Amino acid sequence: MAQVCQTVLSLDASATQNLKEGINFSAGHCFIIYRHQDNFRACRNQCRHQGGLFITDIEDIDRRTVRCTKHNWKLNVATMKYINPPDSFMQDELEVERSADGGLKLLELDPSDPWTADPRPVQELQPGEVMLTYITHACMELKAGGKSMMFDPWLTGPAFARGWWLQHEPPEDAVERMCRADLIYISHMHSDHLSYPTLKLLSEKRPDVPIFVGNTSRPVFWYLDRSGVNLTNINIVPFGIWQNVDKDLRFMILMDGVHPEIDTCLIVEYKGHRILNTVDCTRPNNGRLPRGVDLMMSDFAGGASGFPMTFHQGKYTESWKIEFISRERKKLLHYKAKLVESLQPRVYCPFAGYFTEAHPSDRYIKNINLKNSPVELNALIQKKCPNILTWTPRPGSTLDLAKALTNHRSAHHLIQNRVGVVRTVVLNGLLWDDLYIGFNNRISRDPDIYHHRFWTHFQSDLPLSAPDWNIFLRDRPTLHPAPSRVLLPPLFSQLWVVCLWWVEKVRHYFW
Ligand code: FES
Repeated sequence: MAQVCQTVLSLDASATQNLKEGINFSAGHCFIIYRHQDNFRACRNQCRHQGGLFITDIEDIDRRTVRCTKHNWKLNVATMKYINPPDSFMQDELEVERSADGGLKLLELDPSDPWTADPRPVQELQPGEVMLTYITHACMELKAGGKSMMFDPWLTGPAFARGWWLQHEPPEDAVERMCRADLIYISHMHSDHLSYPTLKLLSEKRPDVPIFVGNTSRPVFWYLDRSGVNLTNINIVPFGIWQNVDKDLRFMILMDGVHPEIDTCLIVEYKGHRILNTVDCTRPNNGRLPRGVDLMMSDFAGGASGFPMTFHQGKYTESWKIEFISRERKKLLHYKAKLVESLQPRVYCPFAGYFTEAHPSDRYIKNINLKNSPVELNALIQKKCPNILTWTPRPGSTLDLAKALTNHRSAHHLIQNRVGVVRTVVLNGLLWDDLYIGFNNRISRDPDIYHHRFWTHFQSDLPLSAPDWNIFLRDRPTLHPAPSRVLLPPLFSQLWVVCLWWVEKVRHYFW
């Protein structure tokens, strides 16, 4: 079934005006609408736990929290976060659309997670099997198995009537790569993604390259007839349906929640490994996206609007604009970092923001329209999520996905111990708790899961008697020449392994 965006509730202007500040239950308690002045958020009245119904939480004087009638989970509707259990879930939100007459619509994507259809097992990748090459701006080449895809090729000339220029010269062979592609995805109609000067070069060599676009209500190729570009294999595909390229490779186009009429994003899957390319979407797939993909790519820069640079008079003074641009930039940076943090891709790459206002007549815009840097965003992501690998692409640079995933810090439980204390504990057969409760170790784990048997082994199952080192040394004569390594009791093979591992680690982690 193709994915559609459907209206689940419409309120006219007077019903919208009558919505109270704070929580409102609508349509016979089916929906919850939260109002703060002229801003609205909404969700279905359905608890994430077991589908219970929410009612007003009488303990909440701020009118932000609802309580589930089944088991008392609590949801803060202002943030759409569950506060009981704390730090747990987010509620699935509905998109709120205001109409020109002051009414309001709640929109929902259906089905919401279409990529879960027809699941395929994740297979091991070999080095060189999945290669991504950054071309320029939003153009990336993906080679997966024997196939090659290209996204949003803008390789020559300016975009937006010479307002935007490529910040990076594409690699010399970029046009040939485009012409060799097995398919091209174009996310939307804007000329930094759908570049007719670029497509003209393509049409002269290979007019029949399969090009895929989403079935947006404003057609991506609305200008094709007048463009003079001859392309013979344009495919408009429904949203949320896997498109098979070969037995290992498939992709799915999804719509943007804020601009479903023009904007799209993409999931590519190869041997069960997923690449999420959210391109320019403001709220890709209405905020419902796959977690833990192998690679996520998104825009990062901001500054892709005439506002407020082209406005003047009234409040639009230079200082107002500078302050606004700086504030919006920061907001975008944190929004992107938060999105990455919530989706936990294994690798993240900021792209689709490498443009500049290079025309001399736009010097003023260029000076004032400061944008986020990809390095800045990646640094923020690294700070929040050190487990996520970040890639700041340079033109022509390549990411080998298999190698990136292998080098990526894998699941681990790292225990670093104060070396003198661990030596005493092991030599004398003291308690694990001397290390743990005594604050003598530092622990990091990923995933952050409590492993009961692991902890019980150290806390409760180790023997109370000290190791007999004489027997240990007698049984292992090869250890005599290296007494510094004779630290370990031959008590349990598991302890032995872990302790060896400790010793390896502590050699590197004195503090
Ligand atoms: S169904 Fe809501 S708390 Fe259990």
